[in-house]
Amino acid sequence: MRYPLAPLYCRPWTLNGISPRLIESHYENNYGAALNRLNVLSEEIEQLDLGKTSDQALVRLKRDEAAALNSTLLHELYFASLGGDGRALPDAVANAIVKDFGSVDRWRQEFVGIANGLAGGSGWVLLTYVPRDGRLVNQIASDHDQSIAGGVPILALDMYEHAYHLEFGANASAYVAAFMRNIDWSAVKLRYEDAIKVKPPRPLEQPEFADVPSISAEEVRELLNSGTPVQIIDTRPKHYTSKAQDIMRGAVWRDPERLDEWIGTLSKTEPVVTFCVYGFHIGCGTASPLRKAGFDARYMAGGHFAWKALKGPVRLFE
Ligand SMILES: [Fe+2]
Repeated sequence: MRYPLAPLYCRPWTLNGISPRLIESHYENNYGAALNRLNVLSEEIEQLDLGKTSDQALVRLKRDEAAALNSTLLHELYFASLGGDGRALPDAVANAIVKDFGSVDRWRQEFVGIANGLAGGSGWVLLTYVPRDGRLVNQIASDHDQSIAGGVPILALDMYEHAYHLEFGANASAYVAAFMRNIDWSAVKLRYEDAIKVKPPRPLEQPEFADVPSISAEEVRELLNSGTPVQIIDTRPKHYTSKAQDIMRGAVWRDPERLDEWIGTLSKTEPVVTFCVYGFHIGCGTASPLRKAGFDARYMAGGHFAWKALKGPVRLFE
């Protein structure tokens, strides 16, 4: 597959303090080289006789291809980040930045701080939308790498020396300031609007338990930390507990097969949280009859291992 060239997005003669000469050299020599490298590498990979290629050789080529692809994509985003006056942030972007960074000033301080910190080294500074959390983060991408999986970068600052040395010499901070003065926020806004249409990764769905409410392990931790009375019942199956070594602190184990025997020991005035090993069937399956019996019962999503992954306290299980 051939990756097509993208025309220059910004109009170089309109930039303030970044000359057409710098943009031309950058576009022609660095963006162009990345795209050409990408096409050479992808063609080379396509033509490999995989039966005769070592896995290591394939890994090297795929690594180089990923770096060239990211360099291509990020350069296109960089050129598309320039061309505005850097000042007026459209409301949609400003509100999102305030939500995720506290204020536009704080975002700017962080973004510029990262850029200045990279001066003399190299890498990208990106403002990236993360669909999983519906939030924006500033990130570094060194070696055209380390992109956030599933993230959609909407603003890019190139901190490789080739992006400024020709004109700014070693004065990277003057280059960063010039970049900030030229951000095209209206284009960032359009990209932000596109980015937020990207759906987060699909959550775990258990339609058979759709009417049984869950509680996250984080929320259970909050309940315990705040001293809220709650009855936590570990309903991991008996065969499983014979090899289990630990149990959530604050939980009691009850055999899910013998619900009838222990349901009478529960209080109806305190909420009940049940959980199993991973939060699939047994935790939900126990919460359901408890609710039918009039208890305020929920199952803890992710079960015992969600608690462990949060480094929630456990005790020895005997
Ligand atoms: Fe570059």
